[in-house]
Amino acid sequence: MESLKMNNGLTIPQFGIGVFRLSPEEAEFAVKTALANGYRHIDTANFYMNERAVGRGIKASGLKREEIFLTSKVFPGYYKKIPEVVEATLKRLDTPYLDLFLLHQPYGDIKKAWLDLEEMVRQGKIKSIGVSNFPAKLVDKMMEYATIKPVVNQVECHPYHAQDELRAHHEKLGIKLEAWYPLGSMNKKLINEPLWEELAKKYGKSKVQIILRWHIQKGNIVIPGSRNEAHIKSNIDIFDFALTEEEMAKIAKLDKHKKFLPIPRWLGSLFMPLIRMNFDKQK
Ligand SMILES: NC(=O)c1ccc[n+]([C@@H]2O[C@H](COP(=O)([O-])OP(=O)(O)OC[C@H]3O[C@@H](n4cnc5c(N)ncnc54)[C@H](OP(=O)(O)O)[C@@H]3O)[C@@H](O)[C@H]2O)c1
Repeated sequence: MESLKMNNGLTIPQFGIGVFRLSPEEAEFAVKTALANGYRHIDTANFYMNERAVGRGIKASGLKREEIFLTSKVFPGYYKKIPEVVEATLKRLDTPYLDLFLLHQPYGDIKKAWLDLEEMVRQGKIKSIGVSNFPAKLVDKMMEYATIKPVVNQVECHPYHAQDELRAHHEKLGIKLEAWYPLGSMNKKLINEPLWEELAKKYGKSKVQIILRWHIQKGNIVIPGSRNEAHIKSNIDIFDFALTEEEMAKIAKLDKHKKFLPIPRWLGSLFMPLIRMNFDKQK
């Protein structure tokens, strides 16, 4: 398993598991299964309503907390009370600290939220902080007031939306690109691209493994979601082969520069900060 060095000198395992849309039962099972099969990086969020289950999965693994890289995210609308949000998140996950905490969406009072998150880093409650779904322009703006740089920007990224422009922009700032929807959530058109079949045959791998390997070679941090034991086991089995430069170039030609889940910022800015959920009401 590869690890990447972040701009604050800490490392992040390049590959992990995401638990979006997993019920608490599924999330607990997925985390336990992943950790038993070599995963050391878990991605959850307040909004996923499964942090307690993730905490139980970690405890059940028998691993030491410091062997695991744990990420969560704060949802817009809760930015005004970052210290309480962080305390509640730590409590639900049953952990003394988070490895990474992200501003989940670029809405609300971002500057205040970021400066509050910086304070949480100083207090040792969070090791690294980052953003998610931030366009380059907003990252640039953040650089004007941030005394701690974001280590990652977690964005939709897959071969149909390779994010080369954003990755190049972030590389200059030392920010890593973390890919959500790395499999396009198994979108039929994407998964049925004939190129995957051809490469899968050549390397004796599955189509999904070829896509995940592409992410690794692009330098993305990648967190495929799964509730299925066989999928969890096979997804991480991508570190014993490498795609050639010609193959990477062929995959680059599939880029449609199009998101599966576009949320216009004006729409998100209007509605998302208004969403109120009781994150403590989870199993
Ligand atoms: N920051 C954000 O705004 C944001 C948004 C979305 C997601 N995320 C994060 O990114 C993670 C990944 O995204 P995602 O889960 O939405 O999409 P994804 O990883 O692209 O796709 C997940 C889907 O792929 C299936 N799958 C996984 N491995 C498979 C395999 N080997 N064979 C067949 N099917 C397979 C899963 O089904 P099975 O359960 O049956 O395996 C699930 O339906 C999330 O879990 C979350 O942590 C972040």
